[in-house]
Amino acid sequence: MRYRLWRVGIFIAASLPPMYWFYGAMLGLLGPDPGKVLVDNLGLGALVLLLITLTMTPLQQLTRWGGWIAVRRQLGLWCFAYVVLHLAGYVLFIAGLRLELVLRDLSERPYIIVGALAFVGLLALTVTSNRFSIRRLGRKWKALHRLVYVILLLALLHMLWVVRADLGEWLAYALVGGVLLLMRLSVVAGGLQRVGALWRENPKKIEI
Ligand code: HEM
Repeated sequence: MRYRLWRVGIFIAASLPPMYWFYGAMLGLLGPDPGKVLVDNLGLGALVLLLITLTMTPLQQLTRWGGWIAVRRQLGLWCFAYVVLHLAGYVLFIAGLRLELVLRDLSERPYIIVGALAFVGLLALTVTSNRFSIRRLGRKWKALHRLVYVILLLALLHMLWVVRADLGEWLAYALVGGVLLLMRLSVVAGGLQRVGALWRENPKKIEI
């Protein structure tokens, strides 16, 4: 199978942090509120994975290397796995498995509502990310998967609500997200492809 080494590398890199955080929580290495640290880390991890997934298309346009697209789905699935663990951590450690508390949060707390909308969007993309759905949905598949940019905005808004007092880190993620959104505009995407083609023809031509 092509790009096997890349896939194995991604599997190892993506699976180690949650294992480390779960062990850390069990061994008391995550401070006085390990549940909250675990939920926060998994949420941030999910956002980072979403941003990495979204860089695959611009990188492919720039370099024409097929590997970026070959691993895009795997990265998206890891993002979803982190979100599922983030959600499970919230239900277990923050809501203490009390269903009435989860339902109250879902109807009263705006940042939980926004997070839940992002989760539902990611779920829709995950269940339709297979070959069968691509064939079945045809053109609609692309339109559906553009939802990923709405999901990114929802995830950023969700995070903004949580870290309101500490905007620095949020701004860094929002900036990366904004650049990725810009890169999807057809003018910018076309420009990227032209720069990539020029560079492949003669790398010296675009040396700064
Ligand atoms: C039903 C869905 C979701 C629920 C219930 C939920 C719940 C939470 C909670 C309770 C926190 C704050 C924990 C605290 O510090 O008190 C949080 C933070 C966060 N969540 Fe979610 N979340 C959901 C979906 C998502 C999704 C889809 C993403 C990203 C793709 C995400 C990313 C984040 C991030 C980045 C943070 C901030 C972490 C930090 O403090 O740096 N969440 N979430």
